[in-house]
Amino acid sequence: MSHDLETLYESYRTGDNQFQLAGGVEGITKLANDFYDQMTTLPEARRILHMHPTDLTESREKLARFLCGYMNGPELYEEKYGPIQLTPAHAHLAIGTTEKEAWLLCMRKAMDLQPYPQEFKDFIMKRLEIPAGRCQNRP
Ligand code: HEM
Repeated sequence: MSHDLETLYESYRTGDNQFQLAGGVEGITKLANDFYDQMTTLPEARRILHMHPTDLTESREKLARFLCGYMNGPELYEEKYGPIQLTPAHAHLAIGTTEKEAWLLCMRKAMDLQPYPQEFKDFIMKRLEIPAGRCQNRP
């Protein structure tokens, strides 16, 4: 990684910069909604869509709240639903490489729709590969 990019990433790790750059609660709510909109339209995501409840209202809200905390903003998920660990929270789901890649595809397409700087989008996508990998529970 170039020195400049490393410096930029370091600034993203400071305080609640990620939360702010993502547009706070409003911006992150839009990101989560765009993510689930992608899931309902992308053929690659059909299987993971069908793992969800038919009504995605709560899924949208839970993801938005979770991502606020994940981006070092307010812990809105925990505030409403209590503590969460992603791996056990996904243990009842059959998540292999295909499902993980489908999830990340929905997120990348949703990210593309946001007015964020490209470097920030790349940074968040790179970060999200880690929890996505932890949710994978089969090949
Ligand atoms: C790796 C691929 C993933 C798949 C296929 C997947 C799929 C799902 C499904 C189907 C649900 C709904 C579960 C239910 O209603 O029973 C869910 C819930 C959730 N997912 Fe994922 N997920 C993945 C990765 C992630 C990642 C990387 C994050 C966060 C960065 C995340 C955050 C959440 C949250 C916060 C919930 C709500 C948990 C709850 O309150 O029950 N997921 N996921």
